[in-house]
Amino acid sequence: MSTLQVKVWRGGESGHFQQFEVPRLESQTVLDVVTHIQRRLDPTLSYRFACRVGMCGSCAMTVNGKARWTCRTHVSVVAEDGNLEIGPLHNLPVVKDLVADMTPFFDKWAQAQGQFRGTRTRKDEFEQVRPDSVERQAVDEAIECIGCGVCYSSCDVVAWNPEYLGPAALNRAWTLANDVRDVAQRERLSAVAGDAGCHACHTHMSCTERCPKLLSPTKSIAGLKRLVLSAAVKGEL
Ligand code: SF4
Ligand code: SF4
Ligand code: FES
Repeated sequence: MSTLQVKVWRGGESGHFQQFEVPRLESQTVLDVVTHIQRRLDPTLSYRFACRVGMCGSCAMTVNGKARWTCRTHVSVVAEDGNLEIGPLHNLPVVKDLVADMTPFFDKWAQAQGQFRGTRTRKDEFEQVRPDSVERQAVDEAIECIGCGVCYSSCDVVAWNPEYLGPAALNRAWTLANDVRDVAQRERLSAVAGDAGCHACHTHMSCTERCPKLLSPTKSIAGLKRLVLSAAVKGEL
């Protein structure tokens, strides 16, 4: 049976890589490899996953230097030579082993006013969004974000400037900026207009290249830049 040589991050920020040998199987994913190590070789290995089908966004790790969702990353694509190096996501604190602390990531969603603010109560009728409206069409892709953090982990500006809101939070803000039911548009644009907001993006496109859902946070951020400029010209910010 052929095998994979797998280096796995152990410990916290100042940890180290530990080597494991794992059987190579057909249609094996990187998450399958991590699961094999935890179940058969070392039950103390910590990692995170839930759905295993690319929906929950919890399984993202750094695989051979790049952030990826591991449940849908096939070993045959990333380890042609049989070597794998698996670590926690970059640009986030390490809890232990392969588990990154997502708190700063989701705190930035809140800072970017990533919460929907409507006016209707549960006693009112549902407010409808027309599927063919300009606003709904503008966010047709962006609303598919699963919050995996791959873009955030891949963004150089986040690495240079830890205050930067980052691609996922700004993508979320863009979806709400186009939500005709939302009443917090001015606050949201103010929140993303600062030094750590959309104008800090250098349009490197790493987020767009790496997003496993094939979304383009870069495009969403460009849309926010246009909205902020327009609001500023009108004196609304
Ligand atoms: S396009 Fe902007 S948000 Fe995306 S990786 Fe580049 S700098 Fe970061
Ligand atoms: S934009 Fe893509 S890479 Fe970023 S959190 Fe959402 S799904 Fe993940
Ligand atoms: S385990 Fe849910 S996206 Fe990978």
